[in-house]
Amino acid sequence: MSEKTKIQVLNDQRAESRLGGGQARIDAQHKKGRLTARERLDLLLDKGSFHEVDPFVVHRTHDFGLDEQKFMSDSVVTGWGTVEGRLVYVYSQDFTVFGGSLGEVHAGKICKIMDMAMKNGAPIIGLNDSGGARIQEGVVSLAGYADIFLRNTMASGVIPQISAIMGPCAGGAVYSPALTDFIFMTRNTSYMFVTGPDVVKTVTHEEVTQEELGGANVHSEKSGVCHVAADSEADTLYLIRKLLSYLPQNNMEDSPFVASDDPLRMEEALNKIIPDDANKPYDIKEVIGMIVDNGQFFEIHENYAQNIVVGFARLGGHSVGIVANQPAVLAGVLDIDASEKAARFVRFCDAFNFPIITFEDVPGFLPGTFQEHHGIIRSGAKLLYAYCEATVPKLTVITRKAYGGAYCVMSSKHIRSDVNLAWPTAEIAVMGPDGAVNIIFRKELEAAKDPVKKKAELVAEYKEKFANPYVAAQRGYIDDVIEPKETRPRLINALEMLSNKRDANPAKKHGNIPL
Ligand code: HXC
Repeated sequence: MSEKTKIQVLNDQRAESRLGGGQARIDAQHKKGRLTARERLDLLLDKGSFHEVDPFVVHRTHDFGLDEQKFMSDSVVTGWGTVEGRLVYVYSQDFTVFGGSLGEVHAGKICKIMDMAMKNGAPIIGLNDSGGARIQEGVVSLAGYADIFLRNTMASGVIPQISAIMGPCAGGAVYSPALTDFIFMTRNTSYMFVTGPDVVKTVTHEEVTQEELGGANVHSEKSGVCHVAADSEADTLYLIRKLLSYLPQNNMEDSPFVASDDPLRMEEALNKIIPDDANKPYDIKEVIGMIVDNGQFFEIHENYAQNIVVGFARLGGHSVGIVANQPAVLAGVLDIDASEKAARFVRFCDAFNFPIITFEDVPGFLPGTFQEHHGIIRSGAKLLYAYCEATVPKLTVITRKAYGGAYCVMSSKHIRSDVNLAWPTAEIAVMGPDGAVNIIFRKELEAAKDPVKKKAELVAEYKEKFANPYVAAQRGYIDDVIEPKETRPRLINALEMLSNKRDANPAKKHGNIPL
């Protein structure tokens, strides 16, 4: 038999590298209902666009017999490719090699690709499926994690960072995804926790499954750690592609323009969407759908703190971030979770040049000992800080209630919002009529022969005076009162007017957002 040519050696090595931990482990991965690292990249990236880096890298560890087990590419596949023709950098942990565990060279490969993403200004997407720190490598693997954490932090606000959790993600390993902008999880096959069920049982005596402790539902509904949960790996990767379509490549660029439906479209149905009874709910997502391009809204944190709605859409072809109180859930009140959810979203928008559109219908902050004791003061301040600090174009539409401190917080004119519009149904006041009358007319009500009748009169008087947009409009706190149906063309016009907006904060190292 003739000797292998150099080209054959190369091709053989490449084929071996592509096989990761071998066919048996690939089969085991499939049996668990999971795809391999490379199959995931095939679904995430445009066909044929993936360019791998470091396929021949192997670990350098001798301890615990590891020198007998070497797998080319080690336990992570890295490189770049495109999504809808736009450059992205990727890493995809390979569970078939040492359970995707992270040692020195695994970390080195991720750091290399992150450095390239930063230098060339394109998003980085990490697909996580790993048993955590490679136990045999000891502190070297911890050092590798720390190297990645530092890069995550330096990249924050410079390039979009997206994490998908597609298998285990445990221990300190959770903190790389946690430092990124968006975490996607796949239901039933992925989980994230700092300490697993066994440690939990030892320390707190609680019996809990991996899914109950840190599955996609827990993190997308309770903790808010997960921004988007999907039913399958294919859906998870598809949704990442969709999110990317709204994002710029980096903080110096604008998002891609996508031709829109009629920018002058009026929506008659909006004129009737607010119920006559101010305490009745309606769905703000219906309102958003009627206003944005093609009714398309990419919601972030859909199942978490549903009393506020945040996500991406386009207006007149330009990507925008939307923040909207949701009267259909807890009357749209601001609580701890809603404040933090919206604050983080506003900061992402500001970092990456998204105009922020705020739809406001908020009865105030949620009262109660739980909220006070768990820090609603600090959490509310985060949202206030985020809005105050943001220098991107800011547009606000008050659809109904804008009460109390929440009026100030939700992108009011006073905190540098650029264009503030109100629907005729807007009620802008220190508080709702019932509460206000009880406080300011307490003595009159106590003295009244018929307190119920008296209260009804006083409420009516209060409503006439304050529960409308005109007191604010007379002072210029509202730029205009508009018919609801005009909202889309008015917002698109305002965005065009603001397209060259320049605003800046005072020079400083960084502010001190109330964390
Ligand atoms: C080295 C590991 C590994 C690890 C798994 N493997 N985790 N090798 N270091 N951390 C190897 C296994 O030995 C096995 O090798 C292969 O990967 C697949 O693992 P299985 O256990 O067979 O798979 P499965 O049954 O699906 O269980 C997956 C798992 C479990 C739940 C992730 O492997 C596990 O509990 N691993 C340890 C998790 C852990 O405690 N990690 C450290 C967390 S602390 P073979 O050769 O048999 O295929 C941490 C600190 C980070 O990460 C700190 C950063 C600051």
